[in-house]
Amino acid sequence: MTDAVPMPHNRRPAGCPFRPDAVLERLRDDQDLRELPRVPTSNPQLGEFEAVLVTRPDDVREALADPRYEAGFAFDRTGPRTVMNQPGILLNYDGDDHTHYRRMLSGAFTVKRVRSLTPAIRRVVDERLDALVRSGPGTDLIEAFAGPVPLLVICELLGIPAEDRDGIQRRSAIGTDAAGTLETQLENFAAMAAYMGELVARQRSDPGDDILGDLIRRHGDELSDDELIGMGNSILVAGHETVTSMIGMSTLALLRDPGQLAVVRDDADAAPAAVEELLRLLSVAPPLIRQAATDLELGGARVAAGERVLLSTLAANHGTGLDLDDPGRLDVRRRPTAHLAFGYGAHQCIGQQLARLELQIALPALLRRLPGLRPAVDAADVEYRTDALVFGVARLPVRW
Ligand code: HEM
Repeated sequence: MTDAVPMPHNRRPAGCPFRPDAVLERLRDDQDLRELPRVPTSNPQLGEFEAVLVTRPDDVREALADPRYEAGFAFDRTGPRTVMNQPGILLNYDGDDHTHYRRMLSGAFTVKRVRSLTPAIRRVVDERLDALVRSGPGTDLIEAFAGPVPLLVICELLGIPAEDRDGIQRRSAIGTDAAGTLETQLENFAAMAAYMGELVARQRSDPGDDILGDLIRRHGDELSDDELIGMGNSILVAGHETVTSMIGMSTLALLRDPGQLAVVRDDADAAPAAVEELLRLLSVAPPLIRQAATDLELGGARVAAGERVLLSTLAANHGTGLDLDDPGRLDVRRRPTAHLAFGYGAHQCIGQQLARLELQIALPALLRRLPGLRPAVDAADVEYRTDALVFGVARLPVRW
């Protein structure tokens, strides 16, 4: 296996961003493969390295459920501050430490708490749609809708003032640019930490009615400012880049399939299953990285202590192991499967209920408000964010 699999995004065929490319599919489906492939890869924090590529659903799930595949393997409190060295970021911890921090945050993301955000999300979506209609009849949907909606929701959740939101969006895009240099990342990370530090200081003296204020009221004595900064910034970045990408990619997928689009637009009850199918099909998260703490076996193959594994949720979510009929086809009426778009095991996405709710509100609202919505460029001219950690559409020019 000599074919390099470029990080950060799960590789997709040119012109068809909705499925893994043939190399990933062949690797996943090759029953004779005794050893898992080792592929060269890189990212700004870890530099270049070789990793074991894991593509079968059962193997991905097994690795994510096994604490001996560690997420916080690069966490070094004394090293230069990168996303992997920042205290308070849940993905930098394993075992009891991880449980300790995750418990503090999980109260903010229960089904009940998230459901109570429904009116606020509807208001944000309606306001953005009003602005879109006023400025019409054409725009870049990412800039005018898919970007702002999750950003405004997450800023409201974290108590971030409206005037700071443009700067946040710019910094967050740099933070998830996997092709950037380490210097850029360090400078950007320091600026984001300084900003969140000011917010934390303000909230320490006057805790607001938001996630940060809540954390400070309930755990302020246990958490350092540094840890609060890590928690705040990780929620900020994880909470909007992913949803932006899902709104953009889902709209594109639906515009290319009018029958499926009509279901989401016209059937008020279709949204939950449709969103689940879009999450599975599009699998926008990058391959998840873990490092083996000891010699291990995965799907009958060997993984040596110290080796890193790249767990491709995209390949797994299109695999036959999920008991799917024609996994490459968008079928919004499909019975939801146990997909891996939000990961699995201890680090499974803490914000998944919020992400679902945002998508269930935003997608039907967009399609109902703009029934004539159509792409303003040919399929071949759509630009993708191939250098971002989260795969997505860079610009989506539309008309209505
Ligand atoms: C459609 C949108 C989203 C997708 C596809 C997504 C995907 C994921 C995935 C795959 C993981 C697991 C990473 C790993 O195991 O290495 C994860 C973790 C995480 N996500 Fe999300 N996410 C989304 C939305 C959100 C939102 C809205 C928030 C917060 C507001 C959020 C916050 C987090 C956090 C804090 C973690 C780390 C959890 C831990 O380590 O315990 N995500 N997400």
